[in-house]
Amino acid sequence: MTDIHPAGGTLAIRARVLTYHAHPLLAGVDVSHRYIADGLVVVRDGVVEAVGEAGELLPRLDPSMPVADHRPHLLMPGFIDPHLHMPQTQVIGSYGTELMEWLSKYTFPEESRYGDPAVSDAAARFLMAELLRNGTTTAVAFCTSHPQSAESFFTESQRLGLRMVGGKVMMDRNAPPALLDTPQRGYDESKDLIRRWHGNGRLSYAISPRFAPTSTEAQLEATQALAAEHPGLHIQTHLSENHGEIAFVAELFPWAKDYTAVYERYGLVRPKALFGHCIHLSERERTALAEAGATAVFCPTSNLFLGSGLFDRDAALQSGLRTGIATDIGGGTSYSMLTTAAEGYKVLALRGQKLRGHAAFYMLAAGNADAIGMGDRIGQVAPGFEADFVLLDTAATPAQRRRAERVETLEEELFVLMTMGDERNVAATYANGRKVHARGMYGEPPERLDQPAASRSAPVCQGGEVQAR
Ligand code: GUN
Ligand code: ZN
Repeated sequence: MTDIHPAGGTLAIRARVLTYHAHPLLAGVDVSHRYIADGLVVVRDGVVEAVGEAGELLPRLDPSMPVADHRPHLLMPGFIDPHLHMPQTQVIGSYGTELMEWLSKYTFPEESRYGDPAVSDAAARFLMAELLRNGTTTAVAFCTSHPQSAESFFTESQRLGLRMVGGKVMMDRNAPPALLDTPQRGYDESKDLIRRWHGNGRLSYAISPRFAPTSTEAQLEATQALAAEHPGLHIQTHLSENHGEIAFVAELFPWAKDYTAVYERYGLVRPKALFGHCIHLSERERTALAEAGATAVFCPTSNLFLGSGLFDRDAALQSGLRTGIATDIGGGTSYSMLTTAAEGYKVLALRGQKLRGHAAFYMLAAGNADAIGMGDRIGQVAPGFEADFVLLDTAATPAQRRRAERVETLEEELFVLMTMGDERNVAATYANGRKVHARGMYGEPPERLDQPAASRSAPVCQGGEVQAR
């Protein structure tokens, strides 16, 4: 990758700049964001130093600072994906089942391969490249129960300088023997991975009991001990995704008044605990999660694909439950956070709820950063924040350009971008101030090849090279 990023993570980027610092639905759209039509973002050693009008900042810039001119592209904080599965890149699109059958028929057999370092290294490399191609710079990932899978995940994240969160899943029942650990092994292996990887550069460890049906009470007790020993760590699991799953939990834990109560009993409902799906929660469960400072993660493409149900965003908002939005690869069907937002819109539409462009783009970075408890360092293009960016070409295809002719406001531009957009709109991705992806790297057409070169209208995009002024 050394050929595509300047060394040192020090540069200035000129582009349209859009960043959110508050929830548009709670604070009001106008005070939630900053938009600079001709902006300059100055990055030093991987951290944002200044953001402002290009006309004001350029004259004051150190003459040795390289400037990449990306007008008219839109620079935003890198997207954050708070729930996906590293070992499910070859499960996506498995036909015709709902959650519990999908797990046993497709997912568990596939995950059984991940004790092999060749398999898990290749998957980690593919996953990171694909995330960057989609403008995602941070993800919270489940690996498999094999420590090797987490090893591969963290090694590749570190090689690319990415802020990533992950953990090996703990599971000791109701799955094939090749995937089962034990309460003691799950604890020991997690503990060892925490020691080696948590806080190592930009990496964080997430304690990862897969979900209540695949852990015995003895394992949940061991998880409770691990979580208590590491109070600042993320916890990730699944909750209330599917009716069959909920009935199974009621059978396995007859003493629990509901699904959430199982996790509460074992001390797993707390800040930075991320609960995937949360579709069929009762009011009590929502309130309990909210009061504990936990997070619900909405996974629209997965929920539609597996027929799991329609997330109730408004109920989450009303109970003060922090909510993220995620791909859930590979129950989910797209790596693109743009597509994820578009499908989120449709899920909410079926519930009579709305997701406007500003609210969606807030969620994809600042909102998700807040949802995973990292809102003080990622998710904004602002001084002091880490320089993880996505550079978006908002009219990348003929259909998008035709639609763009009738776009009048930023809100409309954003809504069309999420509805029609995907990785084709990602012109470049930066992590830690370094360019880690540029459109065209994988042989796809780099620019607008449907028009004769002379009439191409993107005036200043130079395919992402850093230019001297
Ligand atoms: N619940 C437990 N494991 C999984 C998984 O891998 N995917 C989804 N969507 N739900 C789960
Ligand atoms: Zn999941």
